[in-house]
Amino acid sequence: MAHWKNKIMADDSVLVKTILFNGSAAGNIVCFEQLGEREVGYWLGKEYWGKGIATQALAEFLKYVDTRPLYAHVAKQNIASRRVLEKCGFTVSGEDSFFSQALGKNVEEYILILDTNGSVNSD
Ligand SMILES: CC(C)(COP(=O)(O)OP(=O)(O)OC[C@H]1O[C@@H](n2cnc3c(N)ncnc32)[C@H](O)[C@@H]1OP(=O)(O)O)[C@@H](O)C(=O)NCCC(=O)NCCS
Repeated sequence: MAHWKNKIMADDSVLVKTILFNGSAAGNIVCFEQLGEREVGYWLGKEYWGKGIATQALAEFLKYVDTRPLYAHVAKQNIASRRVLEKCGFTVSGEDSFFSQALGKNVEEYILILDTNGSVNSD
């Protein structure tokens, strides 16, 4: 809560939205700046996975956030998140890695980019 309250929500450059599902808070979706680029990120409670919620939330969010290009970093093994991004028009533009303190190891990532308006597709 301290991280959210003092860092994320106190930063005017961060846009935070709650993802609602049938009136309940299912997760969050954020847009923030990293190394001069605008990034998007999201998180759902586990009980809400696999219902198309993240795809719908991201598609709605992209109507509010009109910055392009818009970027996302996704762990290479996070197939579901990569799929969410690609269904909303993002494409893989590169690779990155960082050391995760929580996991105690390097995490390999894809960098995805959205440079159009984006719309949900099922390809
Ligand atoms: C990643 C996450 C946001 C996905 O949310 P979700 O609401 O379950 O995603 P959706 O249901 O909208 O879409 C998931 C897509 O990935 C696919 N998918 C899910 N698991 C998969 C797997 N293991 N292999 C291949 N595809 C997979 C689904 O079939 C679906 O694609 P489809 O519509 O073509 O069938 C959610 O699992 C989450 O919050 N995880 C923890 C936090 C996280 O990883 N955040 C993203 C950091 S980049």
